[in-house]
Amino acid sequence: MNEIIKILAKVEGGTVLDAATGKGEFIATLKQNLKSYVQIIGVDSSARSVEFAEKLFPENDVEIFRMNLEDLQFEDSYFDTVCISNSLHHLEHLDVVINELLRVLKPGGFMLITEMYSDGQQTPAQQSHILMHHWIAGVDRLSGMYHQSTYTKAELEQIAKKLLLKKTAIHDFYIPVDNPNKNCETLLKNCRDTLKKLETMPDSQLLIDEGNNLLKRLSEVGCASASRLIIAGYKN
Ligand SMILES: C[S@@+](CC[C@H](N)C(=O)[O-])C[C@H]1O[C@@H](n2cnc3c(N)ncnc32)[C@H](O)[C@@H]1O
Repeated sequence: MNEIIKILAKVEGGTVLDAATGKGEFIATLKQNLKSYVQIIGVDSSARSVEFAEKLFPENDVEIFRMNLEDLQFEDSYFDTVCISNSLHHLEHLDVVINELLRVLKPGGFMLITEMYSDGQQTPAQQSHILMHHWIAGVDRLSGMYHQSTYTKAELEQIAKKLLLKKTAIHDFYIPVDNPNKNCETLLKNCRDTLKKLETMPDSQLLIDEGNNLLKRLSEVGCASASRLIIAGYKN
């Protein structure tokens, strides 16, 4: 998170969109770290996530809407800043969403994307995070949700090019972990809970086997956050 904090500390956010806000995790980062902002609007298509985020941020300078990013209900150039964190690989029609995000961003407005990637020289503990993520994506797909494996670094760089931003800066970073075996409690719990859910689902044997291998791997090599790219720039 350190690189993101450094970037946000220089940004006067104005009216900010947090696209695919989920449970509002990135809104907390924005609130804490932006140099200033007037209002933060979080948008997500999941009713459960929106309900959760609304309760988390009752304050007047945050609003949460259930909305499809493919058809944003805001006029052109409504936002000074548009962010999307950890979500590109959740979007079924990425090009449509990118057009919408650029439409609602003012000319000269600031765009920030953060996304983990799946390749490159990552440590065995980071590979655990990537494998876990791909497993969860498989479980989501079995439940009928759209969730693809995370992009490669080159694929994210291609997405950055398509944005045609001015002064584009791409930061590649990860947060080193001293003892990867000590960091796995949340991931282990997620893994066990997901295995329980899989046991009640049809056609899930391959994913159950993959999940059991992951449990073993997590206890052997531990885990650490995967490397990520931050793509930042200003709309032309
Ligand atoms: C990983 S979660 C969000 C993570 C959060 N932004 C963070 O930084 O931790 C991805 C979110 O994308 C949302 N999503 C996927 N497709 C969407 C769409 N077309 N419109 C709005 N939200 C969408 C999902 O509902 C999900 O909450």
